[in-house]
Amino acid sequence: MNSGVAVSVEDVSKRFRLYHDRGTSLKERLVKRGKTRYEDLWALQNVSFEVGEGETVGIIGHNGSGKSTLLKSICGVLQPSDGQIVVNGTIAGLLELGAGFQHELSGRDNIYLNGSMLGLTKKEIDDIFDEIVAFAELEKFIDNQVKFYSSGMYVRLGFAVAVNVNPDVLVIDEVLAVGDERFQRKCLNRIREFQDQGKTIIFVSHAAAQVRAICNRAVVLDQGKVITISNPGEAIRVFRDSLLAVEDRVKPKPAEGNAAAEHTADQGSQRSVRIEQVRLNGSIPGVQPNVKTGDAMKIEVDYHATDAVEGVAFTFELFLGDGSDEPVLMMRSSSDAQGMVFDLDQGHNTANITLPTWPITDGSFFLNVGIAARNEGMMFDWKEKAVSFETVYEGRSEGLLSLPYDISLREQ
Ligand SMILES: Nc1ncnc2c1ncn2[C@@H]1O[C@H](COP(=O)(O)OP(=O)(O)OP(=O)(O)O)[C@@H](O)[C@H]1O
Ligand SMILES: [Mg+2]
Repeated sequence: MNSGVAVSVEDVSKRFRLYHDRGTSLKERLVKRGKTRYEDLWALQNVSFEVGEGETVGIIGHNGSGKSTLLKSICGVLQPSDGQIVVNGTIAGLLELGAGFQHELSGRDNIYLNGSMLGLTKKEIDDIFDEIVAFAELEKFIDNQVKFYSSGMYVRLGFAVAVNVNPDVLVIDEVLAVGDERFQRKCLNRIREFQDQGKTIIFVSHAAAQVRAICNRAVVLDQGKVITISNPGEAIRVFRDSLLAVEDRVKPKPAEGNAAAEHTADQGSQRSVRIEQVRLNGSIPGVQPNVKTGDAMKIEVDYHATDAVEGVAFTFELFLGDGSDEPVLMMRSSSDAQGMVFDLDQGHNTANITLPTWPITDGSFFLNVGIAARNEGMMFDWKEKAVSFETVYEGRSEGLLSLPYDISLREQ
């Protein structure tokens, strides 16, 4: 391995063997002996990349693309079927929820167990014990069996152990999303400290904003293969395109001999719903709109559906930012989570997303807008910075928000 490389993943493949039709009774098994059918599932296929010392690399990919399998292989929890992984230095990981904990033991005993598994002596663990408990905010619960912990408490303990054993390489699976927002922020701050100390981090996340905020590079996995390794912005773009490719894979095959169906098959890679234009309060594309505090906000999404599609959700993200700083996520929402799912007709149409009042008094904002197939959780199309706008405030209250209110006197 070259010097300066913290983790090298070389042509790694991982096969899981899925058995079908295994007889349930002993008799059935004996009768079917030798006939057990199985299917090989390649969770990773010829994956190669290197992570430099001090680098933070994100791993992105849709569900089942092999992210957790890759992290477990890097941490040595899983053995690759092929290829090799070399880690330079000590490694600590926050893998899937609850992984690495003995459920019958207390939080205290688990800290000692985990620490010793990571190669620390009892004395070394004694020295960092209080820090771990304090970081995890589990003072009151540390002598309870971890099986009584909530999922958030598990993550807090797991993260606290992983960062406080001071590894050279820190590996984090998506679990961070489980903690509450305040704890997530605390973890992100700790991650930044880690980066400042020149440590190496491998980080799995579905959250594009997080990957963009903390990673130097990102690896995109699709069906166990690396489809790109690049800067986070480009990787996120490729990832979103790969979601569209999944959409193509699951599309029913057109019937043979049907001219219209062959036509769609020819355009197999075409997206079935595309966003054409997004307007805010009737804005003209190219001219940045202003939104007055207290006014309603109407986001018009012009789209084109190549076929009629059922079960569609509209998603948007509202960010505070004018490009001079890291944008701040103000709101992310998917209409299906609010019970709004739509069946789209074929052709051109417009969806209106209406927010009754814009309560904010100052700032530059932008909107990302997406159209998703609700069940598969895949994006048909996504427009980053679909509209940017400024806030205009003409009222007289002070502070960031101007919320409508009413005052009435109680009749005597
Ligand atoms: N122990 C196992 N036995 C059999 N198949 C497995 C096992 N672990 C994972 N798989 C399969 O391997 C593939 C990759 O799974 P993996 O958990 O690595 O995906 P992932 O990218 O982490 O997904 P998610 O975003 O849902 O966490 C999936 O098809 C999964 O079903
Ligand atoms: Mg996973």
